[in-house]
Amino acid sequence: MNQPHLAIVGATGAVGAEMLVCLEQRNFPVGRLTLLASARSAGRTVSFRGEEIPIRELTHDSFEGVDIALFSAGGGISKEYAPSAAAAGAVVIDNSSAFRIDPDVPLVVPEINPGAVARRPHNIIANPNCTTIVSLMALKPLHDAFGLRAVIASSYQAVSGSGAQGILELEEQVRALANGDPVTPRVYPRQIAFNVIPQVDAFTDNGYTKEELKMLHESRKILGLPELKASCTCVRVPVYRSHSVSITAVFDKPVDAAAARAAYNGRPGVKVVDDPQNQRFPVPLDTTGGDDCLVGRIRENLVLDNALDLWVVGDQVRKGAALNAVQIAEIL
Ligand SMILES: NC(=O)c1ccc[n+]([C@@H]2O[C@H](COP(=O)([O-])OP(=O)(O)OC[C@H]3O[C@@H](n4cnc5c(N)ncnc54)[C@H](OP(=O)(O)O)[C@@H]3O)[C@@H](O)[C@H]2O)c1
Repeated sequence: MNQPHLAIVGATGAVGAEMLVCLEQRNFPVGRLTLLASARSAGRTVSFRGEEIPIRELTHDSFEGVDIALFSAGGGISKEYAPSAAAAGAVVIDNSSAFRIDPDVPLVVPEINPGAVARRPHNIIANPNCTTIVSLMALKPLHDAFGLRAVIASSYQAVSGSGAQGILELEEQVRALANGDPVTPRVYPRQIAFNVIPQVDAFTDNGYTKEELKMLHESRKILGLPELKASCTCVRVPVYRSHSVSITAVFDKPVDAAAARAAYNGRPGVKVVDDPQNQRFPVPLDTTGGDDCLVGRIRENLVLDNALDLWVVGDQVRKGAALNAVQIAEIL
């Protein structure tokens, strides 16, 4: 495929805008660019490589001649329009959860399972959940070294994970509270400013949220470990950008912290920042706008055998969504 015709569905959103940044920064070869969003945005323009590109309204006929369609407009839009894009001959890279668990849709993190893109009977490739990507960037090198058996994790998820509306809600609430005004939550079930909320996505019947179950099912699929045990608590925190995850991981083989740190040597997309005596550990502000996931606080678990505790942080709009999708397009 030479100089492909690219389409971005959801080009005005948090992830769509970051996709444009990633395409520019990585000098991705773009023959033509079609930017799609809702009727609300049609007629606006967006700047790409110094050119003003018009936003068009998404329709089923938007994909003629498109080689690669990057979808980031929510699961409902993907379910409705991705088949039209694939039928028109485009390879769809979808950021929503619509197709991730479909056995005929590869679920890909390029540093982990790049070969999976080859088998795509529906011409759809799924981008994993953002918290799952950040967590697996930390876990895969350890799995290769010690054999991953079980994971217990708690996430600290930024408001940009809810898109542009989440950022706005935190901004508005901080301003209102500073002025002594009351706040009325719209995006989140409770006040997010100066608070943390142990709910990301909707609750299911077993007490877990959908986000927490995505971590289980998507990790199994990406790592090819159908028996992997993973239990997660996903928490929204008043951070603008970058998700953090506290992980306890249990392995088949004995582990030690030094060997764990060494397991990251030479692994692309992940770096160890782990010198707690000198206050060197990753925080969300360190990763924002960057490509790498940062791992720190690596230590042997005091309670469980063959287990490590660690802390990983990654920019979920980039590596958790836009960058990962562009990396998949690069493989194509
Ligand atoms: N934010 C993250 O960190 C993150 C991470 C991983 C995955 N994702 C996934 O990526 C997707 C987009 O998330 P986001 O955070 O970028 O959301 P967002 O900021 O709310 O943007 C949503 C985008 O979808 C478009 N859209 C909404 N309704 C549409 C319609 N009827 N027809 C066409 N376009 C429509 C919007 O266009 P208008 O501007 O015209 O409304 C906008 O471009 C979601 O599936 C989300 O789960 C997000």
